[in-house]
Amino acid sequence: MSGSTPTIRSAWPDRTYWRGFWGRFVGGFALTLVILAGWLATLPAAQRDRMLAYWAGITVPAPSWHPAPLFAAPLSVQVHVASAVLALVVGAVILLLPKGTGFHRALGWSWVASMIVVAVTSIVMIADVSGGINPLHVFTAITVLSLWGGLTGIRRGDVRRHAGSMAGLYGGGLIIAGAFAFIPGRLMWQIVFGN
Ligand code: HEM
Repeated sequence: MSGSTPTIRSAWPDRTYWRGFWGRFVGGFALTLVILAGWLATLPAAQRDRMLAYWAGITVPAPSWHPAPLFAAPLSVQVHVASAVLALVVGAVILLLPKGTGFHRALGWSWVASMIVVAVTSIVMIADVSGGINPLHVFTAITVLSLWGGLTGIRRGDVRRHAGSMAGLYGGGLIIAGAFAFIPGRLMWQIVFGN
């Protein structure tokens, strides 16, 4: 085999990636708004009206720590939050450190495992919490497809596809899905802002 194994650092992000960046950014933002609108549309009318009225009058208090709603939540929600927070931390370390090393592979597998737990618990919550599929489950599909793309990409030696899928999932799946969880009235909001 000639030359060294390509690393993500050497192969990505390159000029062609940045050429498509704004298109993906605007497309992703639009998709986020569509998911938000779809989620609101599927809420029962009384709950939606209550939520919109609540948002209209909202003031953001200083963050503080109110773990009681998390302890009172079903186990699926607790495991979902714990694995999502773990994936946030591990994913940030992976993105910051050099790629292609043994440490990257070890951390990468633990990140994949925690993202699978996040996705599985989001499905278990259909039975435990919501009683049906809702537009937030688009994030579940994005997670499964991106993990598949990232893992099959690197198995074939396609570093660019691996990096694009995994980094895209971190930003577009984990961070945006996490931001949704902090919408006023939802559980993470109650935990951090206490109302
Ligand atoms: C930091 C990241 C995340 C946090 C803190 C978080 C937190 C939560 C919490 C607390 C809930 C349930 C309670 C509520 O609705 O308020 C929830 C629901 C949900 N989460 Fe996440 N989440 C995160 C990332 C993700 C990701 C990456 C996915 C995609 C697999 C996901 C998919 C879902 C879905 C589909 C639901 C709705 C389940 C249902 O209502 O049946 N979340 N999330």
